[in-house]
Amino acid sequence: MRMSSEPSNARFTMLIVDDDVDVLSSLRRYFRPLPYRIWTAEGGQQALECLTGQRVDMMLLDLKMPDRDGLDVLKEALTRMPDLKIIMLTGHGGVREAVMAIQNGALDFFEKSTCLDMLRKKIDQAYRMWLLDQENQSLRQELEGRFCFDALVGESPPMLQLKDLVARVSPTRTSVLIQGESGTGKELVARAIHEHSNRKSEVYIPVDCAAISASIIESELFGHTKGAFTGADHSTLGLIRSADKGTLFLDEIGELPLEMQAKFLRSVQEQTVRPVGATSEFPIDVRVVAATHRNLIEEMARGRFRQDLYYRLSAVTLYVPSLRERGDDILLLARYFIKALSREGMPFKTLSEEAARVLCAHTWPGNVRELENVIRNAMAFARGHTILARNLPALSELSGVQPPIRATASGRLADVEREAITRALRQTGGNRRKAARLLGISEATIYRRLKQYAL
Ligand SMILES: Nc1ncnc2c1ncn2[C@@H]1O[C@H](COP(=O)(O)OP(=O)(O)OP(=O)(O)O)[C@@H](O)[C@H]1O
Ligand SMILES: [Mg+2]
Repeated sequence: MRMSSEPSNARFTMLIVDDDVDVLSSLRRYFRPLPYRIWTAEGGQQALECLTGQRVDMMLLDLKMPDRDGLDVLKEALTRMPDLKIIMLTGHGGVREAVMAIQNGALDFFEKSTCLDMLRKKIDQAYRMWLLDQENQSLRQELEGRFCFDALVGESPPMLQLKDLVARVSPTRTSVLIQGESGTGKELVARAIHEHSNRKSEVYIPVDCAAISASIIESELFGHTKGAFTGADHSTLGLIRSADKGTLFLDEIGELPLEMQAKFLRSVQEQTVRPVGATSEFPIDVRVVAATHRNLIEEMARGRFRQDLYYRLSAVTLYVPSLRERGDDILLLARYFIKALSREGMPFKTLSEEAARVLCAHTWPGNVRELENVIRNAMAFARGHTILARNLPALSELSGVQPPIRATASGRLADVEREAITRALRQTGGNRRKAARLLGISEATIYRRLKQYAL
């Protein structure tokens, strides 16, 4: 296998595969003036090896080779690299195989005796398509690149609105307050703000205010000097100063004790930090993002949160919507978690229609975190390739989805049917059309049965 030593960034790469080295070298010579990178392989096995770990755009593939059948190589190459354009080269005849090659995904086939200019035209066409693709791709990246929210799954209107706000506020230096119920993804939003700011190559320091005990929170945040208190045998920087030049994320800021709120406000206003025990201040350059699941306005009314700090932080407030406000995002997220978990090694499964219905009917008090856990459990408990409603036991009960109808005491089909109709009517608030749809029978049938059973 001969490869040119150029760097492998975007250049149209063509691999020529033939067991005849003379054919290889004459084709290589013929294509040399063209702007392609050209590799050659002296057989099918070598060609396939060449495809591992590097991108090839076009392959000229000999149909008859002693080590591996060209048709075989074609199939395997396309499974590995579905976008690969393959042109088959045949000796004399071989038309039947050539047709099979086309049926199996080859772009075209040429007899080796055909004029090379025809082959060149075909390749040139593919090359121009490739150029267009490249251009589109880089345009798309330019458009999306700055604000690509892969980690923030959701297409519902409130999520799109949130992403739009995040995109607009991220590049600024403004403090941001993120509010939202527990498990809605506030931390993810904070991270996205940092990732899309011009501080993204600097540090991101998340601090969970709820997790630090009141006795040490001051020195944790502001640092201390050596000897500031018993046990302080060396000075520390503190979390705020360690976020210098970057982003400080204060999670659960509603839990910050009042006196710390005052000291923190001073730090933010003056962009300085005074460590415990120090007599002077240190300048800092920190962007603050804070989050809470509490309603800070209520907290202020109760005297548990300082008004001045609230106004300082809430210049921009982002509300992360609860999961029940996000409509179809529930299913989008469910499928996202299934994929993520199967990448972690759990067997991939699809969602049954009924399971999807149960997920959509649930009210999700624990929001996205609850959904993630429900999917994790269902993936672990579902036996086959499908997640069924019964793999979501906690939800089925809560959502009022009924257990399957069992035979009634009498065991008569008529009784089972009657029970099913009664239940469907109850579920649809007496709407016969909806009940019929729910049961998968026609409206006429449901009317007939209602009469028959005197319902
Ligand atoms: N839009 C989303 N796309 C993908 N994953 C999400 C999304 N929102 C939340 N998650 C995931 O759900 C879980 C909970 O999110 P996160 O910890 O950010 O919530 P939170 O609002 O900070 O919750 P809490 O108030 O309990 O701290 C995380 O595992 C997170 O990755
Ligand atoms: Mg959180």
